[in-house]
Amino acid sequence: MSRAAPEPKTNMGRPEPRIEARLKVTGEARYASDMPVHNPAFAFLVTSPVAKGEITGIDRNDAKAVPGVVEIFTHENTGELKQLKYGSSGGGAATSIQDFGPKIQHDGQIVAMVVADTFEAAREAAYRLKISYREETPSAGFDAPGATSAPDKKPVPKHGDAEKAFNEAEVKLEAAYGTPTQHHNPIELFTTTAVWNNDELTLYEPSQFMYGLKNNAAGKLGIKPDKVRAISHFVGGAFGSKAQLTPRTGLVALAAKKLNRPVKLVATRDQGFTIATYRAETRHAIKIGAQKSGKITSFQHEGWEVTSRPDNYSVAGVEDSARMYGFGAVKTGVTLVHADRNTPGFMRSPPVVPYIYALESALDELAVKLKMDPVDLRRVNDSMKDATGKEWSSRSLMKCYDQAADAFGWSKRSAEPGSMREGDWLIGWGCASAFYPTHIGASTARVKLNADGHAVVQIAAHEIGTGVMTVAGQMAAERLGIAFEQVRVEAGDSIYPPTPVAGGSNQTASCCSVVMKACDAIMAKLGGAAAPRETVGGGAMKNLGERFARLGVSTLEEYAEFVPEAAKPNVITSAFSDPIKKLYAGTPTLVGGSKGEKLMYAMGAEFVEVRINALTREIRVPRIVGAFAAGRIMNTRTARSQYLGAMIWGISSALHEATEIDPRNARYTNDNLADYLIPVNADVQQLEVILVPEQDSLVNPAGVKGIGELGNVGTAAAVANAVYHATGVRVRELPIRLEKLLKA
Ligand code: MOS
Repeated sequence: MSRAAPEPKTNMGRPEPRIEARLKVTGEARYASDMPVHNPAFAFLVTSPVAKGEITGIDRNDAKAVPGVVEIFTHENTGELKQLKYGSSGGGAATSIQDFGPKIQHDGQIVAMVVADTFEAAREAAYRLKISYREETPSAGFDAPGATSAPDKKPVPKHGDAEKAFNEAEVKLEAAYGTPTQHHNPIELFTTTAVWNNDELTLYEPSQFMYGLKNNAAGKLGIKPDKVRAISHFVGGAFGSKAQLTPRTGLVALAAKKLNRPVKLVATRDQGFTIATYRAETRHAIKIGAQKSGKITSFQHEGWEVTSRPDNYSVAGVEDSARMYGFGAVKTGVTLVHADRNTPGFMRSPPVVPYIYALESALDELAVKLKMDPVDLRRVNDSMKDATGKEWSSRSLMKCYDQAADAFGWSKRSAEPGSMREGDWLIGWGCASAFYPTHIGASTARVKLNADGHAVVQIAAHEIGTGVMTVAGQMAAERLGIAFEQVRVEAGDSIYPPTPVAGGSNQTASCCSVVMKACDAIMAKLGGAAAPRETVGGGAMKNLGERFARLGVSTLEEYAEFVPEAAKPNVITSAFSDPIKKLYAGTPTLVGGSKGEKLMYAMGAEFVEVRINALTREIRVPRIVGAFAAGRIMNTRTARSQYLGAMIWGISSALHEATEIDPRNARYTNDNLADYLIPVNADVQQLEVILVPEQDSLVNPAGVKGIGELGNVGTAAAVANAVYHATGVRVRELPIRLEKLLKA
């Protein structure tokens, strides 16, 4: 359920249906593995059943005997592949563990790929391939013997004497929280199709970053990037898992080269748990010192995150948690725990999801201790500055709280845990804040406008479900003064100008800012800004034709480069020599969040009702109200859809999702969608989204804050807080499953 927002008069903000909606619902949208190629061979991966050790022998005889088998690739015949640099910023490799043996460094490491004339033959032969291993005892994660700890190298916020302030505080809270391993599980599997035409490679692979895929695949193969074309028109879910190069891509491309034939790989669901990244488990220790008024004088947040042996992947969300309120003194730290695991990576609202869950749970615990309404506690600590004195570009947190609380009926809450009951059902109401850093990156675009009022926008973004093609089209229509229907958006192909990785919720801000620039350049040539759209059909179209006639041309084309202020050389983050050059080379330069002169974040408040059966402890979430402020909303329909989806991710994290790992062998045990729990329709009932108006001219020219990941951030804590309110049981380890409430 959603409330209607007033429909804006201009293109921007209008709830246009997605450009690709019809293609998607009719099955016409072609995902990477749907792309027709001539006479393909089919690949099937073989992955390691041990997490640590060494391959001691490979017997190919049985496998080779399967009719239709073409070739078997292992570490013995793939030595041409280069080691690619691990890249944690969205470019580069997803892991340093790129070899297919003989050394085994994690469960499910790729050890072979069978290629055959049919998928079935490849699979059969893969099952028959005999690989022997020398096995060592692996360390599965936290607390495992042999896991090693080291402080994370990222700088973390620190201000004042937090320990002293804590000791002197009138009210003290100390609590520890934990979040589990999670896997993205996009419905579209990890696929790669490689086609060579002489020395030119075309890769069809679902990707969040066309130029990353193009450049990194070239690096892996030791060829020039201009010999690689990456195509990914649609992506059936990624959530961070398709942003960096995984080892399969080079393997498939090399196989296709050696066999002189297109090779198509569609990895299986269980292989997807180990051949790409995941969200590693985290732990949190929080100490808060406050005055009786609720004013927080000391905030300390220490995090622990699991990573692989070779790579220092961390999300280090203390950078966010320590800045979200006007804390007095802050002290933070992050420790990495290296285990025999694949390298984790970005997943659905990193870094804030685990860290803000801990913060927002702790604030609820503090409110209980203070006997204070949890909304009032946030209000007391709401501030236009963080502890270090850094100011917000805009901050609408309490507006979000007020609107969501009102819609939810929060004033009817009775504070005592267990005091709201209907028959056998204990009712709990809880709330929490959502924060997501506003990211933006250097981007490029090409726009063509014809005298007849038709335009084409070209960007190497790709539709991962966010609606970027639609909002880029709306921006062009607005700036060119034409109807949205007259704009064609071409994306998902590295032949178009590069845009940043679709990560960190930056795509709308980045793409819209550069499309705006290209369109404005066209209009400047035509003698000035476009007339507003409402005159289309009358003055504006006639006007456009006349303007073209005056120039004596029938079409105008502009290529634009947009570099955000904070990414310009010698401005604050001076590390970026030439962000456009880096973008073309496959490295995005995302800026924003807490990194610049101002704190730039989108915010929201989420209110949750849970119902818990008093006898069985079954947990239900009958309704969530989320109010969000994220600068200019380009399209109220796609924005609302993203918030709805993200709140459902939040329900998933709160109650369902966890990858179970067997501590004895460091292997995942629920690597399928039957045992890896996610919410189904019955778990999602009433969701209400409120779009809180906000203007922020500092974030970027388009005034857009990213929203793709925001709605996910507050949900888990809000559910946990509601569960406490229903039962008096504080669950500090996600997911909250009924067995954790039975112990009470
Ligand atoms: Mo998203 S996890 O920032 O790709």
